[in-house]
Amino acid sequence: MRFQDRVALVTGGASGLGAATARRFAAEGAQVVIADIDAEGAHRVAESLPDAHPVVMDTGEASSVEQGIIDAMQRYGRLDVIFNNASVDGQQQPLHELDVADWERVRRVNGDGVFFVLKYGIRAMLRGGGGSIVNTSSTTALAARENISPDTFTKAGIVGLTRSAAIEYAACGIRVNAVAPTVVMTPPVEHPIGSDPDPAQLRRQLGSFNPKPGMPTPDDVAGVVAFLASDDAAWITGHTIPIDGGYVTR
Ligand SMILES: NC(=O)c1ccc[n+]([C@@H]2O[C@H](COP(=O)([O-])OP(=O)(O)OC[C@H]3O[C@@H](n4cnc5c(N)ncnc54)[C@H](O)[C@@H]3O)[C@@H](O)[C@H]2O)c1
Repeated sequence: MRFQDRVALVTGGASGLGAATARRFAAEGAQVVIADIDAEGAHRVAESLPDAHPVVMDTGEASSVEQGIIDAMQRYGRLDVIFNNASVDGQQQPLHELDVADWERVRRVNGDGVFFVLKYGIRAMLRGGGGSIVNTSSTTALAARENISPDTFTKAGIVGLTRSAAIEYAACGIRVNAVAPTVVMTPPVEHPIGSDPDPAQLRRQLGSFNPKPGMPTPDDVAGVVAFLASDDAAWITGHTIPIDGGYVTR
């Protein structure tokens, strides 16, 4: 019960890694704010937890993030933990063929959005005397892969932003870390597999993508996020932890 009497906000909490982490926070005693652009999904996840509050938030819009955090503070009166995790997928294309508009859409949510949540979330945490934030980066920030440059650009930015925020707020009792998962079976990965002519073959390929056979589950990621967000990680700040079965060290 590491999050007893604590309030955790999860962006992208309606699905995938966000929903799994929201469940983990709740299982360890947290009151959880499920913040997502998907109102129906946020309500569904919140209803499945003992004490949770759905907030409709577009993390790509500063005013929406500010209002969502005001809403969370009005509901619970404090904010101790943030999982800064929402993102969109970009086109998978060689860099010179990318649409500028698509680049800007991905950058807005996956890059600027992470900053907006830090900006307004840290303001709320400062009023409560501290807290812990975990940002979602990716192995794409640490080891290049072709045709995903908008993802790589924003996820690498998150590694740097995590370091900056960690040292700016260490003396205020706010820790900031990031996780960098390899491929995890969540809806954006599952959907393309379902429409592939040979899904079984694709699953086998994914199972040997990392040196460690198989794939991490959303619950595996949630366990690492919960550790970083908890007092067990009291002396860890500014770091990006790969959850990758050895992928980036290969
Ligand atoms: N699944 C993977 O293989 C993988 C690997 C590395 C990193 N990641 C990262 O993990 C995080 C979660 O991804 P996931 O796989 O769980 O995806 P997902 O699609 O299951 O969840 C993403 C959630 O973000 C929400 N969202 C999208 N745009 C939003 C916006 N503007 N404002 C608020 N919410 C918004 C979606 O509605 C969704 O609920 C992302 O940051 C992703 O880049 C995923």
